[in-house]
Amino acid sequence: MSDTILNHRSIRKFEPRPLQPGMLDRILSAATRASTTGNMQVYSIIVTTDEEIRRQLWEAHFKQDMVLEAPVHLTFCADFNRFSSWCKLRNADPGYDNFLSFLTAAIDAVLASQNAALAAEEEGLGICYLGTATWMAARMIDILNLPKLVVPVASLVVGYPAENPPLTDRLPVDGVVHREVYKDYDEPGINHIYLEKESLPDTLELLKINQTETLAQIFTGKRYTRKDNRFFSRAFLEVLERQGFMINND
Ligand SMILES: Cc1cc2nc3c(=O)[nH]c(=O)nc-3n(C[C@H](O)[C@H](O)[C@H](O)COP(=O)(O)O)c2cc1C
Repeated sequence: MSDTILNHRSIRKFEPRPLQPGMLDRILSAATRASTTGNMQVYSIIVTTDEEIRRQLWEAHFKQDMVLEAPVHLTFCADFNRFSSWCKLRNADPGYDNFLSFLTAAIDAVLASQNAALAAEEEGLGICYLGTATWMAARMIDILNLPKLVVPVASLVVGYPAENPPLTDRLPVDGVVHREVYKDYDEPGINHIYLEKESLPDTLELLKINQTETLAQIFTGKRYTRKDNRFFSRAFLEVLERQGFMINND
């Protein structure tokens, strides 16, 4: 196995220089070699290098500075627009205006994005995903001019790293793998799986800064709150409606 996978770390500071010629093409080729449902390739990748459009994306991505710094911004979209157009032009009736079709296309798009991420790292570049792609999907649609049946699901910034952060922790492999069938977790199991994460010096520091009792409280109370989750869920469902992916009844 290539060391690239095991050495992955998200990069949030980038050199301003553009990618060497050929790099982006290789990354995009790798992205399109990902498996896709029925080999339909129901996704699109928007490559943004233009400074003005990157500035608009930066605003939409909660002003995360790596969006301005990284020379390349990739937005992976679930896309049944192209496939449906092809069907109509070939005397076939496309039935891809429903939630399952969105999910199918979203899975295709995300698999392509991870191929791109690994290919970029293989080239010596750094990447970072941006969850704001879905939180602020309506803005991405406006900025990137996405038609109906196209919805952003993942964004990646790509460029030369200007930092070398340490590897982040992971739960133990046995904490996330189930042998043969799912085995639900009991309290000692949860304690064991989260022990290392909860004991990290960075975690203890976070608890002190935030004056919270547990790391879980930082997730539920500050980073990913119920209120925000519900707000952005509603916004995303509206986007699916607006983009024509919510016709679920006969
Ligand atoms: C779907 C997704 C969305 C993410 N969104 C952001 C983001 O908006 N900002 C950010 O700084 N990192 C973001 N990340 C990076 C994660 O924080 C990072 O992958 C995680 O902390 C593990 O660190 P590592 O990638 O360095 O191993 C995102 C990662 C994923 C997979």
